[in-house]
Amino acid sequence: MSLASMKTSIGKTELVNPALLASGILDETAGSMLRVIDGGAAGCVTKSIGREARGGHPNPTMVELQCGLLNAMGLPNPGIESYAEEIAEFKSGIAARGIDAKLIGSVYGGDEKDFAMMAGLMANTGVDALELNVSCPHARGYGAQIGSDPDMVRKVVSAVKGAVKLPVFVKLTPNVSNVALIAKAAEEGGADAVVAINTVKAMAIDIESGHPVLGNKVGGYSGPAIKPIGVRAVYDIYKEVNIPIIGVGGITKGQDLLEYAMAGASAVQIGSAVYYRDVPVFGEIVKEAKSWLEERGFSSFKEIVGRTHDI
Ligand SMILES: Cc1cc2nc3c(=O)[nH]c(=O)nc-3n(C[C@H](O)[C@H](O)[C@H](O)COP(=O)(O)O)c2cc1C
Repeated sequence: MSLASMKTSIGKTELVNPALLASGILDETAGSMLRVIDGGAAGCVTKSIGREARGGHPNPTMVELQCGLLNAMGLPNPGIESYAEEIAEFKSGIAARGIDAKLIGSVYGGDEKDFAMMAGLMANTGVDALELNVSCPHARGYGAQIGSDPDMVRKVVSAVKGAVKLPVFVKLTPNVSNVALIAKAAEEGGADAVVAINTVKAMAIDIESGHPVLGNKVGGYSGPAIKPIGVRAVYDIYKEVNIPIIGVGGITKGQDLLEYAMAGASAVQIGSAVYYRDVPVFGEIVKEAKSWLEERGFSSFKEIVGRTHDI
């Protein structure tokens, strides 16, 4: 049986394997992100960071539902100045290990000026690439309100590209009627890649009390239930744009990673699966995908990217 290479790339960003940590999970400290790298991830996306510290929404902020997780964290973060220390510590941890692992800095903002300013501050911390969160479903004024409007997305991306030299990835919301149209706008703005998808807007009610279970009432759904939604988004986007796609949403096993790749994803991000399978999930998913490829005679992961479009 031949060996399959799991190396991949997102434009000029080379990855030792296709599995990255998704933003918002285990990425508040350098220590937890280094654990994720030790668990086999090729890199981490930071928590979405803003200019100032932000407390987030009232509790409860996360509940487990039948087929996934429902959260409304509300973008809690320590602000870029404090978080820069975690980035420095992460980078020295990677250097000490002598390995290749990427750090992608996720930022949010209220308009194009805000995004450009945050991108500049995040770029100064030494991250390898930027991810623009224009897709949080439950933070008013930020996120999805921008990511639902193609003109705003184009403006934000082009302002950021004018402000930084780093690769810029744009994280998209599935809570729109045509996600490929938004991806196209990101590409026109100069994005180096798009990331699909952020959580799906959702709600759960405790029927005994009649109250919504989340403090914020509505939130974003993640985990296994949203995988088909993410795969469909990647599939549609692949037909519309020429930049690489990073798939995210409900990946919990090697087969899920391969499904996203066949839809058109050059790499993936994994979030909720850490809750189900713990930190070694990254290395395990890559190993499961590698075995599948080798059993079927593929010599590299890259061979199957977009395969469904060629069949
Ligand atoms: C608790 C939690 C917090 C999250 N915080 C962020 C965030 O700060 N920024 C962001 O872009 N996405 C955030 N997300 C969305 C994830 O990055 C990812 O897009 C989504 O959870 C789908 O992937 P999954 O099914 O693998 O979890 C968060 C998700 C969860 C569950």
